[in-house]
Amino acid sequence: MGLSPVLEPPSPSFSSSLAVPFVTAESELKASSLHTRKAQLHDAHAIHQLIDSFTHDHTLLHRSHADICENIQTFTIVETGSGQFIGCAALHVYGPHLAEVRSIAVHPDAKRHGAGSLLVHALLDQAEAAGIRSVCLFTRVTAFFDHFNFRVVEHQALRDKVLKDCVRCSRRNACDEIAMAVGELPAPHDLPSGRFHPRHHADLVQLLL
Ligand SMILES: CC(C)(COP(=O)(O)OP(=O)(O)OC[C@H]1O[C@@H](n2cnc3c(N)ncnc32)[C@H](O)[C@@H]1OP(=O)(O)O)[C@@H](O)C(=O)NCCC(=O)NCCS
Repeated sequence: MGLSPVLEPPSPSFSSSLAVPFVTAESELKASSLHTRKAQLHDAHAIHQLIDSFTHDHTLLHRSHADICENIQTFTIVETGSGQFIGCAALHVYGPHLAEVRSIAVHPDAKRHGAGSLLVHALLDQAEAAGIRSVCLFTRVTAFFDHFNFRVVEHQALRDKVLKDCVRCSRRNACDEIAMAVGELPAPHDLPSGRFHPRHHADLVQLLL
């Protein structure tokens, strides 16, 4: 038994365009035929393209293709009965006290068919199954998340999120995102003290948190 000779890698089979093509029959978008599943690496390109299409206006935070691949196990996708990708979301786990809904997006042509709801329910089920006490997110579309009992909370209630993203964000002093959470909010002792770097602590104060 031996290894085969070295082969040249295949040429990329995907377009480098940022456009997110989408062609599907309206009947395929019926909520009954949509389903969620955990993402696999072969979904990373579609996930990346969809997220990228929502980053120019800061609706979603940028995720590189490499970042998506590295964290593919955090992603859930929604697809049609015939397996066409229409949306994605990720559950980022901070610990038993908190997880975050990240990178949730549905293709614009597939909106309002229940795909976003399927994604949120799938992530909430995953959090519950893992014994996570609270799920949070930052958003500008609070009305959508109202449907799932998320409530508006103070940014400082979600210090893990602030330390992970806000301290590096160019818009941290002009943030127009609303923090929301469902479940039991993290208690002060839930944040490992080792993560309070003095520089970050100063940033939190600057953020008036
Ligand atoms: C927000 C988003 C994920 C919703 O996905 P969707 O598949 O259209 O949502 P659903 O069809 O499951 O809608 C569920 C309910 O929320 C409502 N809803 C959907 N989008 C909404 C919005 N932007 N504002 C208010 N309500 C909304 C629907 O009308 C529906 O209500 P109903 O059950 O009373 O009819 C999708 O619009 C999207 O990808 N937006 C761009 C990316 C984004 O903003 N992500 C959130 C960043 S935190």
